[in-house]
Amino acid sequence: MRLLLAAILALTVLPVRGDEVPFAQPAPSLDQHRQSYTVALSDAMELTQLRHIKLWLAGNAKNWPLANYELTQLKDTFDKAAVLYLNIPLEYIASVEKPLGTLADAVAAKDSVQFRRGFMALQTACNECHKAADVGFVVIQTPTVSVFPDEKFAPVR
Ligand code: HEC
Repeated sequence: MRLLLAAILALTVLPVRGDEVPFAQPAPSLDQHRQSYTVALSDAMELTQLRHIKLWLAGNAKNWPLANYELTQLKDTFDKAAVLYLNIPLEYIASVEKPLGTLADAVAAKDSVQFRRGFMALQTACNECHKAADVGFVVIQTPTVSVFPDEKFAPVR
């Protein structure tokens, strides 16, 4: 029984890797131990997706402090992925940097028009990288509804 439990635990701790996805191989410089604790790129992408949605909901509601926060979180996830997943060609990392910069400027200037422009450009960068990584079927679009009923996106007055 204890053995079975250990086996199940070992299996759940094993990282899930998209071995067939060329960009999703962790950096070979990480030793086995660190590799097993490295977040899978697909899991980092799920976080990216949530923050991408929140960024839209906040910016669309002109809640600039929250938009700024989500933007920082989003950047952070990309930076980590770039360090851990060295197979991702630099050009695709660079292609998200520009829209992220536009978005940062828009948020600082509280400029809704520029925010929308930056958001569309970011979306294009998401999808371009997905195509290049053989996961072009993961298509990112502007969120249509909030999936966060427990969080307020309108600015706090
Ligand atoms: C530099 C490349 C790159 C960029 C930029 C990128 N992605 Fe990804 N994304 C990937 C790769 C590679 C996968 C597949 C990972 C795997 O299956 O191991 C992926 C998968 C995903 C998935 C599917 C995860 C799942 O488990 O269902 C989502 C959702 C996603 N990305 C969202 C986004 C969003 C939103 C953006 C932009 C804000 C974005 N991605 C930008 C490379 C990228």
